[in-house]
Amino acid sequence: MNQPNLKSVSIRDDVVFGENVTVVQPVNLYGCEIGDKTFIGPFVEIQKDVKIGQRTRVQSHAFICELVSIGDDCFIGHGVMFINDLFAKGGPARGDTTLWKNTKIGNHVSIGSNATILPVEICDHVVIGAGAVVTKNITQSGIYAGNPARKIKDLESNG
Ligand SMILES: CC(C)(COP(=O)(O)OP(=O)(O)OC[C@H]1O[C@@H](n2cnc3c(N)ncnc32)[C@H](O)[C@@H]1OP(=O)(O)O)[C@@H](O)C(=O)NCCC(=O)NCCS
Repeated sequence: MNQPNLKSVSIRDDVVFGENVTVVQPVNLYGCEIGDKTFIGPFVEIQKDVKIGQRTRVQSHAFICELVSIGDDCFIGHGVMFINDLFAKGGPARGDTTLWKNTKIGNHVSIGSNATILPVEICDHVVIGAGAVVTKNITQSGIYAGNPARKIKDLESNG
């Protein structure tokens, strides 16, 4: 009988952790950088070259792919999905990383559960609603929701 090629989730030793980082296992982390006092919940995957700042929370089941960077004091809700491959040539890039695109999340950005973030830039002090699909850069602080995500409100404070 055939046997599958088994691999396991792990925290590879090339992950760079700041001080006082908390990780709830199991997670799959490799080649990424996690800043001081950041929290990583269970069932999270963070791929290589991702950078996450300080005091950020990444809740369970989030997927953070290559070419994503996330700032300080952010909240990445449960099941938030980042995307770097837009299927630009009618399907997956199948390893052609020249087709992948970057995402940059600023500081004090809170992303609600199950939101999907296409390759975009999001400025500081933004809230993204649960289930939103962010398809365009967000350059103004505020609350955004829906598919595609649109601004629904100003943020009352930048705190
Ligand atoms: C987007 C959000 C921040 C807005 O909260 P709010 O300012 O209190 O907004 P309101 O409840 O007053 O809703 C304003 C309008 O936006 C709509 N709306 C609210 N959240 C929405 C969402 N996630 N997606 C689509 N529309 C949404 C409401 O239906 C309402 O529409 P209406 O004016 O037509 O009635 C909030 O609803 C949300 O999604 N938070 C995410 C929380 C989360 O995921 N937490 C994770 C940890 S548990």
